[in-house]
This record gives sequence, C-alpha cells and structure tokens, in this order.
Amino acid sequence: MKTLLTSLVLAFIAPLFILAQTKPPEQHIDSLIASMTLEEKAGQLSQFSGGWTNMSTNSTVTAEQRAMVKEGKVGSFLNVFGSEITRELQRIAVEDSRMRIPLLYGFDVIHGFRTTFPIPLAEASSWDPEAVEKAERTAAVEAAAAGIHWTFAPMLDIARDPRWGRIAESSGEDPYLGSAMARARVKGFQGENGLADNAVLACAKHFAAYGAAEGGREYNTVDISERSLRETYLPPFKAALDAGAVTFMSSFNEIAGVPSTGNRALLTGILRDEWGFKGFVVSDWTSIPEMRAHGIVATDEEAGALAVTAGTDMDMVGGVYLQYLPALVREGRIPVQTVDEAVRRVLRVKFRLGLFENPYRYCDAEKERSLIYTDATRAAARAMARRSIVLLKNGKNVLPLNKDIRTIALIGPLSDDRDNPLGPWAQAGRPSDVVTVLEGIKAAAAHSCKVIYARGCGITDSLPAKDFYESVRAAKQADVVIMVLGESLNMSGEAGSRSNLDLPGNQENLLEAVCAVGKPVVLVLMNGRPLTLPWAADHCDAIVESWFLGVQSGNAIADVLFGEYNPSGKLPVSFPRTVGQVPVYYNHKNTGRPTNDSNRFTSKYIDVPNTPLYPFGYGLSYTTFSYKDLALSSKKITADGSVSVTVNVTNSGHRDGEEVVQLYIRDVAGSVTRPVKELRGFKKISLKAGETKRVEFALEPDDLAIWNREMKWAVEPGSFRVFVGTNSADNLEDGFEVVQRH
Ligand code: GLC
Repeated sequence: MKTLLTSLVLAFIAPLFILAQTKPPEQHIDSLIASMTLEEKAGQLSQFSGGWTNMSTNSTVTAEQRAMVKEGKVGSFLNVFGSEITRELQRIAVEDSRMRIPLLYGFDVIHGFRTTFPIPLAEASSWDPEAVEKAERTAAVEAAAAGIHWTFAPMLDIARDPRWGRIAESSGEDPYLGSAMARARVKGFQGENGLADNAVLACAKHFAAYGAAEGGREYNTVDISERSLRETYLPPFKAALDAGAVTFMSSFNEIAGVPSTGNRALLTGILRDEWGFKGFVVSDWTSIPEMRAHGIVATDEEAGALAVTAGTDMDMVGGVYLQYLPALVREGRIPVQTVDEAVRRVLRVKFRLGLFENPYRYCDAEKERSLIYTDATRAAARAMARRSIVLLKNGKNVLPLNKDIRTIALIGPLSDDRDNPLGPWAQAGRPSDVVTVLEGIKAAAAHSCKVIYARGCGITDSLPAKDFYESVRAAKQADVVIMVLGESLNMSGEAGSRSNLDLPGNQENLLEAVCAVGKPVVLVLMNGRPLTLPWAADHCDAIVESWFLGVQSGNAIADVLFGEYNPSGKLPVSFPRTVGQVPVYYNHKNTGRPTNDSNRFTSKYIDVPNTPLYPFGYGLSYTTFSYKDLALSSKKITADGSVSVTVNVTNSGHRDGEEVVQLYIRDVAGSVTRPVKELRGFKKISLKAGETKRVEFALEPDDLAIWNREMKWAVEPGSFRVFVGTNSADNLEDGFEVVQRH
C-alpha cells in the first residue's frame, strides 16, 4: 500500500507541486533532480533529430519520438522548427510527461536562417565585427520566430588548410580575427546582455582544434602541441566564452590520441576549471559512440561513461546516454552525482531561457509570419554580402564597369545558378530566394546594356567541350566579359575536403578559351575555400572573390561590379599558389634557415615561391590608400605596460572608400620561438577621396603575452617589432623593447 501511495505521489503530485512553486531556479532544479528517475535524467541529456526540414513542410517527427517525449526520454530536438510543431511537442513535454520539463530546440543557424547570409568565411572577409553581429542578430530573430531556442554556431575552428571543406564555415587562419568574429557572433545570437529578446543560445563549436585535421582531410587525426592548441586553436573559444556563450559543442576529432568528446582535460580542466564555463556541452552528431571507432573504448556503454565523466553533458543523436546511463549508475560505474551535474547544467539553461516560466514563448505563429524573410532581412543580407566581397585584382582599372557599357557577356556555370550561392550550411535557405548574378547584373545595368549569357560548361564537367563555341561567340560581341566560376556548395562544408584546389572540372579551359578572345575579362569567384589560380591571376584583368554570398548574391556582386559599393573586403585566409604549398599562412615561424632566394639551403621549395598568391589581410579597393608617420608612444615599456601605435592613412585616390588598417607584432626572441607576425589589431575606417585620418591602436600586455616555456601566459622582456599596413605583407615597421622591471 505504502509503495503504491509513494509512487502515486512521485508520479503525479510531486511534479505539479514542484512546478507550482516559485522557488529560485537552483532550488527548483534541486527539487526536479530529486524527483527524477535515472531514466528521466538520461532523457534530459538526450537530443534527437526531427529530420531535415524546410520552412515549407513540418518536421518529420515520428510517432515514436512523440511517445519518447511523453515518457521523458527527450531533453532536446534538433532540426525541428515551425511554431506549430514546436508547440505540439512542447505541449506533450510540459503537460503529458511526468516531470513537465520543457524541450530545447536546436538548429544549425550558421549564416542566416531563411534569409541566407554570406558563409562565415565571407563574413570574416568584411573584417567588420559590427556588421557580423548585426547579421547574426537578424538570423537570431528569424530563427526564434520559427521556434528555435539554440543555434549550433558560431563555428570557431581556426582553418589553415584550404583542402578542409569546413574552412567555409570558419573565420579563417588567424586567432585574433577569429576571436573578434567569435565575440560578434555570440553577441549577435544572444544579445548584448546574454539572452535578449528573440535571442538564441550560441554554441561555441567544435571544441577543439577540428580544423587542424591532418591533410585537411575531414574528421582526420589532429596531433598538435599544447602550445599550438593554446595559442592558435583555443583563443576564439575563450573569446566566445567571455562574450557569454551558453553552450559548447565537443568536436569529432581526437587531439593527440584523445577524442575531444571524451577529453576531461579539455572539457573540464580547461573549459570549466580554468575558464569558469557554467553552461553545458553538447556532443557533435554521434561523436559519443564514435569513440568506439576512434579506438579509445570498446563499447558504447564505455563511450557513454567516458563522455559524461569528461564533461559532455548532452548526447546529440547518439542514443547512448538514454540507453546506458541508468545502468552505469546502478552498477556503480559512474556516480549519480556526475549525471545530476550534467542535468543541472541543462536545466539551468532552460530556466535562463525562460522556458519554465513560459514553455511556448518561442512558438508564435504571428512572429513566424511577420518576422521571417522580409524586406529588412533581405536588405541586411545584401549589405553584409557587399561588405564580404574581396577585390583581388583590377588591372587597367577595368572595374567598376561604366554604367553606359553597351554589351556584357556573362559566362560560366555559376552565372545564373540559384542553388550554390546559398553555400554549404543553409538548412532553411531556399534556392527560389536567391538573386542570381545574371539577375543582379540585368537589374543594375542600364536598360540600353545588352547582357549575353552563356553557361559555357558545368561546374564539374570532366569531358572538355570542343570549343566552347557559344561562350567565345558571346565574348566576341561584348565590351567586357564577366565570368562566374568556382565550386558547387557541396565541395566545401562538412565532408567537403578536396585534394586539389584548382577550379573544378573544365572551368579553367573555359576561362582560357574566353580570355583568348582578347576582351577585358572580370573573373568572379564563387567558392567555399581559397583556390589555386595562377593562370587566372596572370591573365584575367580583374578578379573578385565573392565566396557564397547567400540570397542576395547577384545584387551584391552587381553593386560591386558597377561601383554602387566600393569593395572593402580583406582575405581572412592566405591563397596558396599550389596545393603543394599547403599549409601556407602568414603567422608562420621563421625557422633557423628562413627563406632566402639566393641561398639554396634555406627553408623553401625549389619550384614555387614561399609567399602565397594572395596574403592574409589582402584586398583592393577602387581607390588607393597610403600609410605614413607610424609612431609609437614609447620605445621602452615594462611587462605590464602598454604602447600606443599611431599612423596616418590617406585616401590617395579619387573615390571614397573603406580601408582595414591592420596592426601586427613580432616578438623577436621569446622563451619559445615566435611567429614572424601576429595580428594584434585592425580598424575598418571610411575615408573620403583625399582625406587623411590618424589611426590609433593600443598594445596591451594581453596582446604581447605568449604561452611560454613554463606553459603559462606571460609577457617576456625583449624586442618587439610593430607592423602597420593594408595587409599582412605590406607594412610600415617600427619597434620597442619590453624591459625587466627592476
Ligand atoms: C554536424 C556538424 C555540426 C552540426 C551538427 C548538427 O555533423 O559537425 O557542426 O552542428 O552535426 O547538425
């Protein structure tokens, strides 16, 4: 009789009692945990997928999943969105299940939601954190209006190897720029104070060093030093945490033998004990059971124990926690406290998002109707897209095009393409929303301008067409030729590693055939990574890097080609001359035999220069900028001192424009070897034609500190060089000393 009464109380009265209380969250959480069964705790730590969906259809949630929600076996869904279905599932969770704990809905809002923005690598090319923050704010409002609480972004992996497809989702090769983008994205998603209205939880991913995969091969082994981890791969994650990121995602890869998902030194030692992270960690998609394939455990059960003990709180789609955690606790193989702590972290976030107060706060059909894909979001996408474009070459000032140009030939497989401009992670984007380059050019050109379009070839054709007759004919009739070449969206992004970086298929042959006609040729690139373009760099009059710019691609590209917008982008990643040069990045070490072309026995290749085709930070404008009067406030400082760096920047051309002024340092001799340059400041400034501005940077101790021989952050005495300029290779130089405090 007594057990029956107890179970009745446990089953029905306790949760109601708990919910009825207006206790402070921690006490509320204590009560919930005290009442939850082990199965319910395991359920709270389990995330399942509702299938891939699009705004036009409801998510493919199964009857079995609905039943699991009712049984308290689901804490979160991903790939479920739309006010109707999110409300339906939430109702089951908070009204039909025993504990009435609300669900958390996650989705990959990587570069926009329905209004697809430029890929993150493109947005990083703007070097404009403020613009990126606005873009993510727009994405957050749209996603929240669709019932999404949580985005699996920002992706913060430093990527030095363009063979790796996920470089497209990254902010490039540099930890300082990557950290600036991390802060901007987290604030954009979550709002300034950490969870603004229409906020979505950010998720700093993939923790950590996923981009260091050997050979740029997807999911491949990562074997780097603690120093590389600390100085190159972790800083953007620390920046995201400092900006308030509420969740992290563990990465698929191992680091030096230990998969991140089971790496306690990483997920607890660094993230929680050292950095003070209070949120929760979600695994990547089945990265818990994948530890069996890694060979660090023999069974899924062991994988579950290793992951939850390491600090992976939620199991994305693996099903391991749901299946094994209760038994692991009952058999005494993991303490219940470990599970309770993970549950506590998840519940804290749900409280913080206000879901206990109002589980339906994101399920708003009216918001879904009125806030998604609007004139405002399209305008924001176009503004971000324009700022993401990088002008790589402009020979004979062929750009901007004259408005009264009579005939344009638009040639190439990506000239009138709706699918690929969305890029590899546009889960809720729609090709029908895309403005193609052909449409953008036609809309921007004068009515009198004739636009002749020829596809020329496919993106990946292997059989060279005989003579590209139609394209050559179009070029012969034109005053200027615009060629849009590059990659398809699935050639980058996840599982999109390439072993070579050339223009795919037959496109280079098409380019050569069209250039042979002898008309001015503007090459517009659409791609998710740096490509090897030695022939194009020599033979095309102009080259515009447009990456994948999202729904407003065509308009943004036309804005730049016709001069409506003076391009201001700078490369966040070096462009190699050949794939054999990879990895090539600006912040490399000097070696004991630095490159010297007049001495064979120095660090270089015999068949290609050591420099990249286009360096980190490089990008041209329709005007020119000159740098003068670099000055330091002091030539000697102590380790806790700072130096003010000033420089005069002049717009020496005839058009107003924007310039990204870049500041680099070099610690000439440290207790460990140092890169030849390290970005430590940048400012994007507008200058009217002829205008000069004095730009100032402050170098603080944090900018000078290194992860020293004792594996600690410290500013060490010695000489520092300072470089200021328009990219990582073209700078004014000066120097100062850090002296020992006596
Ligand atoms: C993927 C990706 C991760 C993404 C997750 C959910 O495999 O690695 O970035 O957020 O699964 O889609």
